[in-house]
Amino acid sequence: MKLDLPRYTERFGAISLHGVQRVYELDSAFNEGRPASEAIRSVGNAEISEIERKMAIVIPIKGERLKLLEGVLSGIPHDCLTIIVSNSPRQPVDRFKLEKEALDQFNRFVGKNTLILHQKDPGLSDALKEVGYTSIFGPDDIVRNGKAEGMVIGMLLAKMAGKEYVGFIDADNYIPGSVNEYVKIFASGIAMSNTPYTMVRISWIYKPKWSESGQTHEMRKWGRVSEITNQYLNDLVSYYTGFETEVMRTGNSGEHCLSMKLAELLTYSSGFSVEPYEVVNILEEFGGILPTENQDAMDKGIEIMQVETRNPHFHEEKGDDHLNEMVNGSLGCIYHSKICPPRLRDKISEWLHGREIIQEGHEPDLLKNISSFKNIDMHQFAKILHDRAISFVHSG
Ligand code: GDD
Repeated sequence: MKLDLPRYTERFGAISLHGVQRVYELDSAFNEGRPASEAIRSVGNAEISEIERKMAIVIPIKGERLKLLEGVLSGIPHDCLTIIVSNSPRQPVDRFKLEKEALDQFNRFVGKNTLILHQKDPGLSDALKEVGYTSIFGPDDIVRNGKAEGMVIGMLLAKMAGKEYVGFIDADNYIPGSVNEYVKIFASGIAMSNTPYTMVRISWIYKPKWSESGQTHEMRKWGRVSEITNQYLNDLVSYYTGFETEVMRTGNSGEHCLSMKLAELLTYSSGFSVEPYEVVNILEEFGGILPTENQDAMDKGIEIMQVETRNPHFHEEKGDDHLNEMVNGSLGCIYHSKICPPRLRDKISEWLHGREIIQEGHEPDLLKNISSFKNIDMHQFAKILHDRAISFVHSG
């Protein structure tokens, strides 16, 4: 893959937050390090493959169409470990069973290393309880509903499997070729990074919407939620640097990847606020504003890369209530952050009230946090999971 070196970077404490980088060539063959210009890096296929072997791709899924899941599976490069974490209904139709069958059938032809697990499996909750990781539980002592919750379970499985990198791809993607591109971008970003503490976030070139006539697609660049999330994340950065910025373009990007060394240090916010809060939590932990226990990461630095795809992002549209929940969660996690200045809090509050997303006199939702998993006894977790989680299947 040939892509831009970062052209513009906001430095915030130990964090380098790079502006959006473009992809010039999806496949640059084996010619590592021989780009046409010094501003471009060529990441060769051998280097990409080596990183893919160390990477797990987590697919969080809740009741998506099986055709879409099958397409997503087919787009993930063979050497990555694929992990499906499902919160699909088991009744009246056992959707999880159907997902397992689809994966099984895929594997019969492809012979790929895969894991699948249901988020609500009581055996999974036993394993988590045993190792003291209960911030992910609901009041019934079972893992809560939520996309973030599924992602964190996926990260635990990736760590258990000894993977060094973990990426996320939603199950409702219509274009298998774009899934493949996301993973190549993850690997290329990691190859370009200068620290073991790295995050690579996907910026979609277009997120097409049907036009009002329903006849054509409008090639829109920004989603309704991401536009506003990015604006307030940028305001947060600007408050501390003293300079206005537009650097953050991927506040809500569901498709992103982290090195395990960074992933295990972070605190995660529940549900759909997970992606913006990853950025907020990195600013909280490594921005030099609050004290941190993670001096090694402070010394080596944290890089956040944002890479624009060549493929447009076609996915399922889920309606206005869903968008309101997402915007409330996204702005709520900025609003409730320990580093959010009062004037930004007022601005967020005003915006949410103005659109009647929250009622007068109410604050944005304060979502539950999921603590970092760096201190979990993985050996013990794996043992109990294998013994008791009946939905857990490892193939390949
Ligand atoms: N395991 C699990 N558990 N998966 C879930 C859950 C859950 O409780 N809820 C949703 N998912 C899965 C969905 O099945 C899908 O694969 C993925 O998480 C994203 O959920 P969607 O409902 O499709 O969200 P979206 O498409 O509106 O939003 C996506 O894109 C946004 C950016 O545009 C998400 O990835 C957001 O997190 C992201 O901000």
